[in-house]
Amino acid sequence: MTSPEPARRSTSWFGAEGKMGFVHRSKLYNSGRSPEMFDGRPVIGICNSWSELTPCNRHLRDVAEAVKRGVLLAGGFPLEFPTMSLGETLMRPSAMLYRNLMAMEVEENLRSYPLDGVVLLAGCDKTVPAQLMGALSADLPAIMLTGGPMLNGKFRGADAGSGTHVWQFAEEVRAGRMSRAEFGQAEACLSRSAGHCTTMGTASTMACLVEVMGLSLPGSAAVPAVDAGRSALAEQSGHRIVSMVEEDLRPSTVLDRRSFENAARLNAAIGGSTNAIVHLSALAGRAEVDFPLEEFDRQARDIPLLVDLLPSGRFLMEEFSYAGGVPAVVTELADQLHGDARTITGRSLAENCAGAQNWNAEVIRTRAEPVQPAGSATAVLTGNLAPNGAVIKLSAASPELIDHTGTALVFDTVEEYYARCDDPDLPVDADTVLVVRGAGPRGYPGMPEIGNLSIPKKLLNAGVRDLVRITDGRMSGTSYGTIVLHVAPESAAGGPLALLRTGDRVHLDVAARRLDMLVDDAELARRAAETTTEERSADREGGWSGLYREHVGQADTGADLDFLRGRRGHAIPRRHL
Ligand code: FES
Ligand code: MG
Repeated sequence: MTSPEPARRSTSWFGAEGKMGFVHRSKLYNSGRSPEMFDGRPVIGICNSWSELTPCNRHLRDVAEAVKRGVLLAGGFPLEFPTMSLGETLMRPSAMLYRNLMAMEVEENLRSYPLDGVVLLAGCDKTVPAQLMGALSADLPAIMLTGGPMLNGKFRGADAGSGTHVWQFAEEVRAGRMSRAEFGQAEACLSRSAGHCTTMGTASTMACLVEVMGLSLPGSAAVPAVDAGRSALAEQSGHRIVSMVEEDLRPSTVLDRRSFENAARLNAAIGGSTNAIVHLSALAGRAEVDFPLEEFDRQARDIPLLVDLLPSGRFLMEEFSYAGGVPAVVTELADQLHGDARTITGRSLAENCAGAQNWNAEVIRTRAEPVQPAGSATAVLTGNLAPNGAVIKLSAASPELIDHTGTALVFDTVEEYYARCDDPDLPVDADTVLVVRGAGPRGYPGMPEIGNLSIPKKLLNAGVRDLVRITDGRMSGTSYGTIVLHVAPESAAGGPLALLRTGDRVHLDVAARRLDMLVDDAELARRAAETTTEERSADREGGWSGLYREHVGQADTGADLDFLRGRRGHAIPRRHL
């Protein structure tokens, strides 16, 4: 049950007379407020995913102070509040298991409190989509400020990037080319300051996509976390949200299909993370924009890779920032984006980026001299192994493996694979197609980043550096290799991936966008009849993971919970005083 809305949402709380207004205002005086704060000015929530368990977001308390300054400058009333935070590196079994829970928490906070608008503060991989999913469903005026990347890692006199170099170093240790002591020294060297991963992993990718979708201030994605420029952006975000409340500029006013097409295209130009596809699909579901998985392929096909960052290229986010960041890429792509798409500034994307310059054509290439030509972005595959789709990031794959037929070596769990991967008798060669299933949203549960499976030691010693790998899980956005991900439906949801057996031939044909097992339909039907997908009962499991497994959708639609898709708005809830 809801009441008719006053002109400003917060007025229903702070403008109330009698006992109710007394109670709403009275407790806030315990932080020493002036009565002017309750004079009907916009109340701005600062939704903070700060946590010491999320090292990438640990500086966001300081960032929030700058946001507050901006809100106060513009005549608003800032109130910071914490939410659940998802620390990619520490959370088990996978931070992704909790993305939808955090989204739900953010959404309900926005709806239940006396807020007129919100500034979202996030950085680490899952915290950005989680906050946005909640904000899109609540549809209050919202602006996001991402936390910015760390300064470049430095190891042995050279730059070293988050994730990507860890995977490289770990393989060098296994191959005996790097000592364990050196490996240990690298740990601290990769994380030199506050901020999120320095490569074009999921956090950097999402920051760039949020910016091109018009949900954050122009130029805000790439600025390093510890750069004073980020505090200025925070102050400006706080200032801007107050006007957005006056203009009633909500996510549903900003976002439409053009925003998602721009995001899919920019993702190709920056060599962005495959995880962005899952998150954007979930966001489209929240925004009620029809954007099926194939669109990521269709939109990206004509877009060259322009940004030369690890894992697809050479540099790190610091260089990308100094080169001009997202506005410079937008300018370079020009007519390949919808310049007329709306943004939170109240201006179009093209207007926001007018005059942006590229200060380093090594880092941000021109369309005439791209890092990789159009067609190197993430491709969407279908076939009898993935009827609802799978993805492969071509800019991180080996060209000689993208049209490949090989014999499958199948593992039901990632643990089984790692128990055997260094076995000298493992039946693998350079043509093997390595498959790990049971890693989807329901199966694991939580669709972990296991796709970047280590190369079996016997092959590593023989000089093999890449292998076709297939999984219904995800991979870290900082990974590389010829890896087919997000197979849908997953094996635990009865997908045909469950029917694949070791020894079957598998054909990957990226040009034709196909992923097939060369097993005839009659044989597959016979296997289906004798295969019982062993289902853990979600009822018996209980708790969050039980609820999650019961309601989670497949990767191709963003792995959101069925009852959380769509927009539910921010009607003022009933009260009783
Ligand atoms: Fe947080 Fe990479 S671990 S952004
Ligand atoms: Mg990551």
